[in-house]
Amino acid sequence: MPPEEVGGPSVPAVPSLEDRPAFAELQEHFQEVRELRLKELFGQDPQRGVALTAAALGFYLDYSKNRVTSETMRLLVRLAQESGLPERIEAMFSGARINVSEQRSVLHVALRAPRDAVILVDGHNVVPQVHQALDQMGDFATRVRDGRWLGHTGKRIRNVVNIGIGGSDLGPMMAYEALRDYAKVDLALRFVSNIDASDFVEATRGLDPAETLFVVCSKSWHTLETLTNAETARDWLVAGLGGERQATARHFVAVSTNQEGVAEFGIDPANMFPFWDWVGGRYSYDSAIGLSLMIAIGPERFREMLVGFRAMDEHFRTAPLERNLPVLLAVLAVWYNNFFGAETQAVLPYDHYLGRFPAYLQQLEMESNGKHVDLAGRTVGYQTGQIIWGQPGTNGQHAFYQLIHQGTKLIPCDFIGFCEALHPLGRHHDLLMANLLAQTEALAFGRTVEELTAAGTPEWQIPFRVCDGNRPTTTILIDRLTPESLGKLVALYEHKAFVEGVIWGIDSFDQWGVELGKLLADRITPELESRLDPSLEHDSSTNELIRRYRRLR
Ligand code: F6P
Repeated sequence: MPPEEVGGPSVPAVPSLEDRPAFAELQEHFQEVRELRLKELFGQDPQRGVALTAAALGFYLDYSKNRVTSETMRLLVRLAQESGLPERIEAMFSGARINVSEQRSVLHVALRAPRDAVILVDGHNVVPQVHQALDQMGDFATRVRDGRWLGHTGKRIRNVVNIGIGGSDLGPMMAYEALRDYAKVDLALRFVSNIDASDFVEATRGLDPAETLFVVCSKSWHTLETLTNAETARDWLVAGLGGERQATARHFVAVSTNQEGVAEFGIDPANMFPFWDWVGGRYSYDSAIGLSLMIAIGPERFREMLVGFRAMDEHFRTAPLERNLPVLLAVLAVWYNNFFGAETQAVLPYDHYLGRFPAYLQQLEMESNGKHVDLAGRTVGYQTGQIIWGQPGTNGQHAFYQLIHQGTKLIPCDFIGFCEALHPLGRHHDLLMANLLAQTEALAFGRTVEELTAAGTPEWQIPFRVCDGNRPTTTILIDRLTPESLGKLVALYEHKAFVEGVIWGIDSFDQWGVELGKLLADRITPELESRLDPSLEHDSSTNELIRRYRRLR
């Protein structure tokens, strides 16, 4: 048992993963089912494709094409139960400091709580301030959209450039791409994140500074990339508007938890939109970090998205674990990660608008669950975290699916599709969905020697063409891509990551690992910029790379 106290916050008294009875049972069970084939499982139970499904909130989750039996699912759900999941869900929703290493509450669910909800952090209800911020955002977004908020020279704002990185970029960018069909057409939204100047140059290419608004997003207001890009943006704007520094007032707004930092940068605190340290960066795009998105789609659509988030929150909090969509996704991930030894998971949205969704999920899952110690700070003896990757269908089919079908690696895949087309053009949508369904069928059942022979395949070619099948997939069918369904989808994966973290017994809400690289970059920067040859005290590889760069820069 981990200690109750780790010199700081208390941690739940839950046995380590391997010491939970359900884990031991799952290990035994795994030996019985590891060789089972989906073809046989479907053959034995003609109702499998109906039985191993769950539906809620317009989402249909078909997990029947996974290498599981009903017994596997029962044991996995028991594992979640023994991990203290119900208590941890309540702890999160009620504002307990479940981010133990930073001693913070984790309350992205408060960002979409209804106005009359009460969620206490240190005895203080945080919901009113959430709605105050939403109202402030709504008011500002409306003024930009209807032309009451003008630039310094009196021109209307036509371009919004979001400056941020990580959670302050990927969320709004993913959601903007996803909801592009709902966005105001005469307002362009662009994103700058990378410290590489090319990003800034391309994002601002062709823009008229007089019509451009920068939304600078940084939770900490300490992030090198964002502050450097914001300074470059300020120089670009001032230069473009005849050197008038006061012009920035109408062209810069900030989203941060750090009011002092924002004021020091020169952005009027009246043009600052708040959020709070109990919102993790990768869980923040439904806070003020979504301001640029709100400007694009409008406050009403943004609120519809929040309604979707909230519906999934309620489902997650109240649905029985065995029918709980985030729980089902999470336990399947644990099954492949900790029993089959799968290293990665592909997320394959069959919707072009969800093109950035896998990249968004990469941060959500990998920053959350890429951890090597448990809540008590002890090194874990099992795999945590999943490597998430993917591309929208059908593009991925013509790129990397070959390896999923016939490679030597096991890659569980989530297929995400929508029943109604946003653009019912010709046969496009049916063709798109036929491909989604065909891929899950092909991955599950493959193509045998007998089938190939019957189809007249030359014998010598058969080994190359056999598809083993038995490749697990989960299909998520959603009615239609709307702000509301996007909110549900994102909350589904947020809570999935949380459940995995609970089962692995880790802190899904810190990210200390990214600090070291930042620290070392701060040390190397002056060595690259120094006019005199610096004395270098790195390893021989880093020293030599620095010398070569200095010679050629
Ligand atoms: O370095 C990682 C990280 O802290 C992410 O967690 C975060 O989303 C990103 O940097 C940006 O941080 P900020 O919003 O504070 O600029």
